[in-house]
Amino acid sequence: MQFQVKTGGASQQRTACAIVPVFSGGELPAVARSLDKAGGGIITRAIRNRDIKGETGDLLLLTHTGDLPCQRLLLVGLGPRAKLDRRAWRKAVRGALAAVARGKYSDAILYLTAEPVAGADAYRRSRLAAEIWHEVSYRFTAMKSEPGEAAPPLRQLGIAASPRDQRSARRGIEHGVAISQAVGLAKDLGNLPPNVCTPSYLVERARAIAKQSRKFRLQALGLAEIRKLRMGAFLAVTQGSAEPPRFIVLEYRGGRAGAAPVVLVGKGITFDSGGISIKPAGAMDEMKYDMCGAATVLGVLQAVAALKLPINVTGVVPACENLPSGTATRPSDVVKTMSGQTVEILNTDAEGRLILCDAITYALRFKPAVLIDIATLTGACLVALGRVRSGLLGNSDKLAGALLAAGQTADDRAWRLPLDDDYADLLKSPFADVANVGGRDAGTITAASFLARFVGKTDWAHLDIAGTAWNQGSNKGGTGRPIPLLMEYLLHRK
Ligand code: BES
Ligand code: MN
Ligand code: ZN
Repeated sequence: MQFQVKTGGASQQRTACAIVPVFSGGELPAVARSLDKAGGGIITRAIRNRDIKGETGDLLLLTHTGDLPCQRLLLVGLGPRAKLDRRAWRKAVRGALAAVARGKYSDAILYLTAEPVAGADAYRRSRLAAEIWHEVSYRFTAMKSEPGEAAPPLRQLGIAASPRDQRSARRGIEHGVAISQAVGLAKDLGNLPPNVCTPSYLVERARAIAKQSRKFRLQALGLAEIRKLRMGAFLAVTQGSAEPPRFIVLEYRGGRAGAAPVVLVGKGITFDSGGISIKPAGAMDEMKYDMCGAATVLGVLQAVAALKLPINVTGVVPACENLPSGTATRPSDVVKTMSGQTVEILNTDAEGRLILCDAITYALRFKPAVLIDIATLTGACLVALGRVRSGLLGNSDKLAGALLAAGQTADDRAWRLPLDDDYADLLKSPFADVANVGGRDAGTITAASFLARFVGKTDWAHLDIAGTAWNQGSNKGGTGRPIPLLMEYLLHRK
């Protein structure tokens, strides 16, 4: 599928389907007016006949388009002109492109991108159009023996823009496509079953990304090297599983040689049964998505390289399974982390923080400008924030503020939770330096508080994506979040 900026008038451009906005309340946008005129009143007639009112998201497909150069005309309501904001525009575009994705057209032109919108300039509108198209046309058929409902046949989607917006529109598309491909990668990884998406499989995918640019350097450590690094906490999690663990380090050097990197650490539990502290059977299948932090890191690196961003970014991914067996860690085991601190493992289901603490200690080697970890870490985060906002915690107001703002701009929102020192008391252990769980209270915060012990003074943020990385219901599957948030942050980082 190709996107192409279209600066010509709607009444001259041939297409299988022109996607044209109308407002509620009678007034017509310029594109609609010119098509209406060229088409002998085709749009005003539809409105007069009340076939479409123009409320946000209303759709009407006209197939008798007379002499117009479009074979079909898809009218899309934008609501009242005065109230047109980004939210309403998004909703309308999503509805329209979902209809196009269900259709059988070889090409279409989206004229909604040429309409001025409060809070979305030409760059943002074309970027959103690219992102929304990928969202509505995403299919996961990798594991089906027959493709079933195949991908839409659309080969080209025109993005209308005024001639003076042409360059911004191009840039918006470029960014939108790179981010969407990263989101698609993360969705795929989340959706793949854990017998396919193993730690070694993540290495293969990382290798494929590393091949895209000479600015990458990839290391994939195995069990022997992980032992040598004395990552006692990571080793405790993997020891119950027959599947070999991997520790992935993917460095992208797009910036100055000496510039401190942004380091991203992603939780890569390819299946979380809970271990000996085993989870209930109910929704255990969903614990294949416990590697979505890792998927986020790989996706971000892919997009950063595709856009050739002039920054240094290092991805660190500890990857293994969490299973019960005769060699599994027992509740009450005490292990020594790479940092030297000892941990009493009271609950083997709190495994994410165990693999992350060693990954964080390793990550400090890179002297990060900022350190951001991304993890499906706690069910408590789902209880607190649902699937709407990711949990955000950390030791730096500046970094937290920048990430919150990026999430807002990218419509991939987060919400900050507190991290007072007092919470650390909940993790006290009589038998080791720290326990890996705190009890029922403030579960998302105690998890972050555990990680904070390993971060030291580095500027650090933690994104708990237990809720936001996955959709339930008819839309069941990976979401690719929080890639849009992180890309927004990296694109505008000062
Ligand atoms: N991977 C889970 C967290 C999770 C739960 C992610 C639901 C997505 C949806 C994590 O490893 C876990 O099991 N956390 C425990 C921690 C508890 C034992 C302190 C939890 O949230 O129950
Ligand atoms: Mn767990
Ligand atoms: Zn987990």
